[in-house]
Amino acid sequence: MELSLDRLTKHFGSKIAVDCVNTTLMPGVYGLLGANGAGKTTLMRMLCAVLEATSGEVLLDGKNIIDMGAEYRNILGYLPQDFGYYPSYTATEFLMYIAALKGIQREVAKKRVKELLDMVDLSGVSFKKIKTFSGGMKQRIGIAQALLNHPKVLILDEPTAGLDPKERVRFRNLLSDYAKDKIVILSTHIVSDIEAIADKVLLMKKGNFLLQGTVSELVRKAEGKVWELEVSPEEARRWQAKVTVANLRHEGDSIVLRIVADSSPVEQAVPCEASLEDLYLYHFPSKEGV
Ligand SMILES: Nc1ncnc2c1ncn2[C@@H]1O[C@H](COP(=O)(O)OP(=O)(O)OP(=O)(O)O)[C@@H](O)[C@H]1O
Ligand SMILES: [Mg+2]
Repeated sequence: MELSLDRLTKHFGSKIAVDCVNTTLMPGVYGLLGANGAGKTTLMRMLCAVLEATSGEVLLDGKNIIDMGAEYRNILGYLPQDFGYYPSYTATEFLMYIAALKGIQREVAKKRVKELLDMVDLSGVSFKKIKTFSGGMKQRIGIAQALLNHPKVLILDEPTAGLDPKERVRFRNLLSDYAKDKIVILSTHIVSDIEAIADKVLLMKKGNFLLQGTVSELVRKAEGKVWELEVSPEEARRWQAKVTVANLRHEGDSIVLRIVADSSPVEQAVPCEASLEDLYLYHFPSKEGV
């Protein structure tokens, strides 16, 4: 199975949200990483065939997904970023309703809904109304509905938003069990989620894929660009205005800055090991837009 993006482009008036992207996705977990407005949601909506591309196309094993119609929808699971819940439905009612929309037979759906509620740790509240749920619980219902039809292509727009650390770990485990032989694409701003879940990272900036590769391949690109520098609090302020500071740590009266820069910012700076977050900050310095 392969999902190909061929010169995929979306314009909103004069705004280019997705700018002629090309790539081929094979089974595995892809992490879509990028700043606010980078084009992640727009791209994902086109991958789900809910948003028409301005030009270019998405092909599943060579077939245009829009031409595939129901054949594609049957193998697709989608968690939109702005997922609409039905506040007066209970968790079970809501999932049964979505299952019906997906054309899943009632008896099959009943069993699957139970299974999924258990997977996302909501079995205990299955008969409670969604309006009584916390943000993280709603998010988990959203994840469950995306999995109802055992999708082979699973697209999750910020699935970990609002999840507490325990649920985040649970989600990671659920996904790595589920992802075998499937194409899973998830977007997030949380670099540690990507490090823990994604086989491959797609770094998106201004509608383009800036970098693609495994986490370690990407981290390697930031090697030699990360430095530690011990300074006084006044100097720290000056450095922050001048360079990209990934971290700031107090040590006694001085401050240790973690600086991301192409070359050593000053002679006493000590080179240190890079992380994915350093690479992200290198490409999205705070002084710059998306
Ligand atoms: N329906 C729309 N009409 C006009 N402009 C839009 C529309 N949807 C998105 N855009 C613009 O396209 C760009 C990409 O937006 P998109 O929502 O895809 O970004 P994103 O990477 O998902 O951001 P976030 O991390 O905030 O979710 C932004 O500049 C946004 O303002
Ligand atoms: Mg988005």
